[in-house]
Amino acid sequence: MIYPIGHRINVIKYACVISAVLITQSCGKRIANVSPTDPIPLVEAISGEELYNERCADCHDGPVARAPHKIVFPLLGPEHVLASMNDGIMQAQAAGLTQVQKTRLAEYLGERPIQRNTESKLLFCDEKSDGVKQGMSATEIRSWGMSPENTRSISSDIAGLTKSDVGQLELKWAFAYPNAKQARSQPIVSQGEIFVGSHDGTIYSLDLETGCANWTFNADSEVRHALSLGPWEHEKSEALFFGDNAGNVYAIDRLDGELIWKTRPNDHPDTVITGSPKLYGDKLYVPLSSKEWASAANPAYGCCTFRGGVAALNTFDGATQWISYSTDEPAPTGQVNTENVPLMAPSGAPVWNSPTIDAKRNRLYVGTGENYSSPASDTSDAVLAIDLENGELLWHYQTLEKDAWNMACYVGGPGGNCPSENGPDLDIGASVILANLDDGRDIILAGTKGGSVFALDPDQSGVLLWENKIGSGGLAGGVHWGMTLLNDSLIAAIADTDFGLDPDYQGFPGLYSIDIDDGKVNWHSPAEDHCPEGSRPMCDHGMSAAITSIPGVIFAGSYDGSFMAYDDSTGAILWKFLTNRSFETISGATASGGSIEGDGPVIIDGTVLINSGYSFGTRMQGNVLLAFSADGN
Ligand code: HEC
Repeated sequence: MIYPIGHRINVIKYACVISAVLITQSCGKRIANVSPTDPIPLVEAISGEELYNERCADCHDGPVARAPHKIVFPLLGPEHVLASMNDGIMQAQAAGLTQVQKTRLAEYLGERPIQRNTESKLLFCDEKSDGVKQGMSATEIRSWGMSPENTRSISSDIAGLTKSDVGQLELKWAFAYPNAKQARSQPIVSQGEIFVGSHDGTIYSLDLETGCANWTFNADSEVRHALSLGPWEHEKSEALFFGDNAGNVYAIDRLDGELIWKTRPNDHPDTVITGSPKLYGDKLYVPLSSKEWASAANPAYGCCTFRGGVAALNTFDGATQWISYSTDEPAPTGQVNTENVPLMAPSGAPVWNSPTIDAKRNRLYVGTGENYSSPASDTSDAVLAIDLENGELLWHYQTLEKDAWNMACYVGGPGGNCPSENGPDLDIGASVILANLDDGRDIILAGTKGGSVFALDPDQSGVLLWENKIGSGGLAGGVHWGMTLLNDSLIAAIADTDFGLDPDYQGFPGLYSIDIDDGKVNWHSPAEDHCPEGSRPMCDHGMSAAITSIPGVIFAGSYDGSFMAYDDSTGAILWKFLTNRSFETISGATASGGSIEGDGPVIIDGTVLINSGYSFGTRMQGNVLLAFSADGN
């Protein structure tokens, strides 16, 4: 099929050449010299509406899955539209536009002028922490998965909260992440101190009791996941390990946030660290994901060369021990796209979950996403077992063959860089869980965006033991970010967003309890719908964020901003709080809640922590960290 975007980009380039001849300067140079305050030169005197029609209308005027319709942009606001072009998901679509043009486009779509950033205040604690505080609780949650096996279950000792307390939970404090449109980095907590990342790349040490800040550290780019806390230079201190949206990995001192080392283990420019790096022994296992799926929407881009995988780094100095790639090295396929750009494969199979450690078998497990180009490999949408010592791929179990997909496919099927296999993009996004059956056998539990949960046998190279399709699945469907294990039950949240594209689509969003012996559903609690009138499509009642359990209770949030505690024996809702609103925070700044998405809740020392606000995928923005405790004390 014809790729309309490519042709439009050519028209703009052509206009550039003509103006360059007439105005005697080279087009690229003229544009590069323009600053937002300069008078607008003739060549730029193209209106926001014209720019929109040239560059954006093909995807945003029509029923393109996930691409927000034009009418949504005023809700998003011009600042968000501008950010999506400058350093967000629309960079490729806005490539070559000047800052003046982008601003004009954003103000046209957002239907008001850009408001300059007003910094939210940060309230520092009166006295800085000088190491382990006296009299503080010794309880800790040191990683995203709460255990090497990624069970996301918290013991009653650590939680400090029982099922009977849950009904009394009240807001204790709210913290506004400054300069943030989303809040998705799950906090970790050690000895009364919270460590958390944020949208603008700042890492915060916060006091668990009051939410005041001890120190901050600035990473280069957004930190999306939970930090990992562990030993560094044994006698000295411990370190916090994490990655950012630009592919950097860091170790900083837990006492004062000083940088210990920084490295970029994977040299692909589009590398993103989305899943939480896993600390085990003296190694940090870093999952490698990317934004190349978005770069591929530009038909001038040579698609695709990113390989997902896991990098093992020394915790001491960050040196790379090995990288285990999920695909072979990409090579030219001999085919070209509609713009005559050569295509490369295999690519993709990114890892955007936190690795799961199997200490007994000396290996780790990760789930992979789709391939970015055709032909697909047999390692996409798969569980991989990787040797902890040398990175060797020991076995893999693929849930879906021939799933090659990237953002170019949004414009209605193959063309440009959309691979011939054209999806359906049903990744394994959530970390797998290593569990133990009553008869002593181990079992690997996993879930897909296709809506299936399944179990593999770690002693038989990942043979399938059972599978149960509990959701309909889709681009934002099925199991998304993280499940939890509670006794003999796997608890899974199902997202199943209905984009209204297929009139026959029926989603089954909600929470499910599954017997890990046979995969049968114990109970199903359909998602309640808290979306106010007129708030769709940004509001949706799908449940996508990672979930967490304490004995007897499961905590889970929704795209619509509701945050619930469920009874583990029946699925009944014991407590609920709607976070999609504004909050007065401890610093006096007003914070806003929105969608709960990505990482999940943390329960420690009687305090329940949850982030609210998510701007990716056109969810409801926000920038708040909320702390609850029984009676708000
Ligand atoms: C090839 C199709 C395509 C084109 C062309 C395109 N977009 Fe998008 N856009 C999308 C899709 C798909 C999404 C949703 C991405 C996701 O999953 O989050 C999106 C999301 C967005 C968002 C929301 C970003 C967020 O953080 O959620 C904004 C704002 C946006 N686009 C603006 C633009 C502008 C401005 C242009 C023109 C310069 C443009 N888009 C061109 C497909 C396109």
